[in-house]
Amino acid sequence: MARQRHEDGGAEPVARVVSPEPAAVARDLEDDAALRPRSFDEFVGQRKVADNLAVYVQAARKRGDALDHVLLSGPPGLGKTTLAFLLAREMGSQIRVTSGPALERKGDLAGILTSLGRGDVLFIDEIHRLQPVIEESLYPAMEDFRIELVTGTGAGARAIPLPIERFTLVGATTRTGQLGSPLLSRFGIVETFAFYSAEELTDIVRRSARLLGIPIDDAGAEEIGRRSRGTPRIANRLLRRIRDFADVRGDGRVTRELAEFALGRLEVDASGLDAGDRKILSTMIKRFDGGPVGIDSLAASLAEDRDTLEFVYEPYLIQEGFLIRTPRGRQVTKRAYEHLNVPPPPAGSRGGQASLF
Ligand SMILES: Nc1ncnc2c1ncn2[C@@H]1O[C@H](COP(=O)(O)OP(=O)(O)O)[C@@H](O)[C@H]1O
Ligand SMILES: [Mg+2]
Repeated sequence: MARQRHEDGGAEPVARVVSPEPAAVARDLEDDAALRPRSFDEFVGQRKVADNLAVYVQAARKRGDALDHVLLSGPPGLGKTTLAFLLAREMGSQIRVTSGPALERKGDLAGILTSLGRGDVLFIDEIHRLQPVIEESLYPAMEDFRIELVTGTGAGARAIPLPIERFTLVGATTRTGQLGSPLLSRFGIVETFAFYSAEELTDIVRRSARLLGIPIDDAGAEEIGRRSRGTPRIANRLLRRIRDFADVRGDGRVTRELAEFALGRLEVDASGLDAGDRKILSTMIKRFDGGPVGIDSLAASLAEDRDTLEFVYEPYLIQEGFLIRTPRGRQVTKRAYEHLNVPPPPAGSRGGQASLF
């Protein structure tokens, strides 16, 4: 679907970690497809989610039934789309792919739903962006496997129920905990992705390097894994850019030394934070005395989209303890001051917030 805006492309700010040239983007997207794990065995990490889903798939197959509807949530780049494709493959089903913003009319959705075969997977990416009328027309499809076809107009309009095949809706959303309960309650399986550990990312880097034919040693893979912001997509991106440095500035091999050099050039620091992350923290410190600051004020000050701030950048900064949420807004921690080499304000000078320091 041409109109589909994928997290892989437009929805993500280009400043993130690297902003490659168009030709490099096309090559990266091809690589992305090549790097996607296609079975549970190849899927690294995220054990709780993957192990649970493997059980549900096996059970559904045993019963000869469609898999229950699945909602996958978590920050971008953690493997939601990958898992949707993997589920269809493991179920031996076809997959149809669309996204919340791409479904503009009820007819679009009805057309897709009536074309699904028994047990097929319908993947709706960015499902939190469905229009309300379209979301509502999904309810009977999910629950009773029927859609309502409206014929006639005005007083003569009639809704005719039309049965559809038993299918599996797989929805993906970056907004953990933000779907309305009518939709949420219709998913039998709800899984939330966590950031990957450095060890898991190191495994992913090794696997990707093998698939892309990039010579890399263990120390080089570890360095990239540790600095990938808990995110496989970033690990793969960094690997590709570092390969470029290895080809041009080195002998083609990715070692720790080469990785450190390239990551420096890419402005990814020792904690894996990129220029965007550091700008958020330094803006909070310089313009808002470290906070608390409301997310809207912060977004305006950074000229950044509020949702990108909240659902792309912030989760990792919070997990790593650079940022906390308070009832009065976001606030940087002592660790943020230390990381940016800025002396924290003296205790007591920050009103009620001194306790943090
Ligand atoms: N568990 C995993 N193991 C190995 N590679 C992964 C894993 N999860 C994601 N990836 C890699 O990261 C890339 C981004 O994953 P994707 O499924 O597109 O993330 P999301 O849909 O959550 O934004 C994929 O192309 C894939 O190569
Ligand atoms: Mg995706």
